[in-house]
Amino acid sequence: TTPNDSPRSGRSGSLSSPPVHDSPQRIDVNPPKGTRDFPPEEMRLRNWLFDNFREVSRMFGFEEVDFPVLESEALYIRKAGEEIRDQLYCFEDRGNRRVALRPELTPSLARLVMQKGKSVSLPLKWFAVGQCWRYERMTRGRRREHYQWNMDIIGVPGVTAEAELISSIVTLFKRMGITSSDVGFKVSSRKVLQEVLMCYAIPENLFGKVCIIIDKMEKIPMDEIKKELKAAELSEEAIEELLQVLSVKSLAQLEEKLGAAGEAIGDLKELFSLAEKFGFSEWIQFDAAVVRGLAYYTGIVFEGFDREGKLRAICGGGRYDQLLSTFGGDNVPACGFGFGDAVIIELLKEKGLLPELSPLVENIVCSLDHTLQGAAAAVATILREKGQSVDLVLENKPLKWVFKRAARINARRLILVGSSEWQKGMVGVKILSTGEQYEIKVDELK
Ligand code: HAM
Repeated sequence: TTPNDSPRSGRSGSLSSPPVHDSPQRIDVNPPKGTRDFPPEEMRLRNWLFDNFREVSRMFGFEEVDFPVLESEALYIRKAGEEIRDQLYCFEDRGNRRVALRPELTPSLARLVMQKGKSVSLPLKWFAVGQCWRYERMTRGRRREHYQWNMDIIGVPGVTAEAELISSIVTLFKRMGITSSDVGFKVSSRKVLQEVLMCYAIPENLFGKVCIIIDKMEKIPMDEIKKELKAAELSEEAIEELLQVLSVKSLAQLEEKLGAAGEAIGDLKELFSLAEKFGFSEWIQFDAAVVRGLAYYTGIVFEGFDREGKLRAICGGGRYDQLLSTFGGDNVPACGFGFGDAVIIELLKEKGLLPELSPLVENIVCSLDHTLQGAAAAVATILREKGQSVDLVLENKPLKWVFKRAARINARRLILVGSSEWQKGMVGVKILSTGEQYEIKVDELK
């Protein structure tokens, strides 16, 4: 039985004669499919992860921003056939506006950049940590809501921006104990495809669509891919050439195919040379098959992957110089990445790198009888005013209970307010790790 039709729900009457004192049905206590609760232990892990995101962003001089979780649906309607469009949680609100839960942060960021217009000076270096919603088929590390850490640089046309972004992700990995033998980045440029398409005089407006089809290469059979490319009106010849170029795994090979003069080769070479200077060369590799599944990318694209190949992409990003014009604004060079909270936790688990996080309270304060509750509260206030954390025992409890609780919340010291000490303006202190015990004047408590 499901919780709704279990006997415990106590429904007995018929529809025509509802019982007067019907007890309410027990609700389903699970969160909606694909979503999560964050009880304290999960929240500690989430906070630890987000603290790392924030700390790395700070180290790179980025400022934090956020946007509403509910946005106008129009922000996500792109005509390239992206998966993300079909996964949208969208509905009409009570004012007949089409709205959607954000599936990603980039369109909101572009909207805010447009709104700020000339009032902000470029470049902007913004980061955000926010919840995103996608109606996905669920697999390991994929769910219907996830949090994404984004870092974006607005107003820098050169690949130093991409290099800076990859460097920041590498910094995060290193902080967590992940090395370049655990994780790598596959890097390419959408300009590779663009140059091939140009040779075959394929109209520019088909570019996004072709990228989206190519991005599905690992998920659906090659015949299907070819069929879709044909339906997008690419010639057999163009399709063959495209697929050949996508199998290229080295820059030297790519240069042979496209020549040395193109922007694709130029950008990629510069990025690899910058990687050496930044010190993350061993983390990145060229792979022409990486195009990414969002229509708006225009240049360098990259994806973080686990080298054992067990998990989905850890993070992904790239350059999107024309997103603002699709919203009717002026184009501004931009690039960034999204880094989810799900796959990284799976990876840390695999590698045994999850931190042990226990709750930590500096003091537990307890009165020895109920007439001293007020005195204990006063002691708690004194300590909190000094910036200390205090778990105040709110009821009269036996000492055994207090010690158990102190161990569970990992308190550093126990402060006991007893009648004879209190009359002298003193309290009893026990350092819980060493067992050391003493009495001290309340105003000398540190
Ligand atoms: P994305 O590749 O769609 O890019 O998502 C970025 C990351 O978010 C993924 O690599 C993954 O870590 C996480 N992610 C996405 N969907 C899910 C899901 N259903 N469950 C768990 N994690 C997920 C973007 O969203 C771009 N807006 C990134 C970007 C920012 N590009 C430029 N700036």
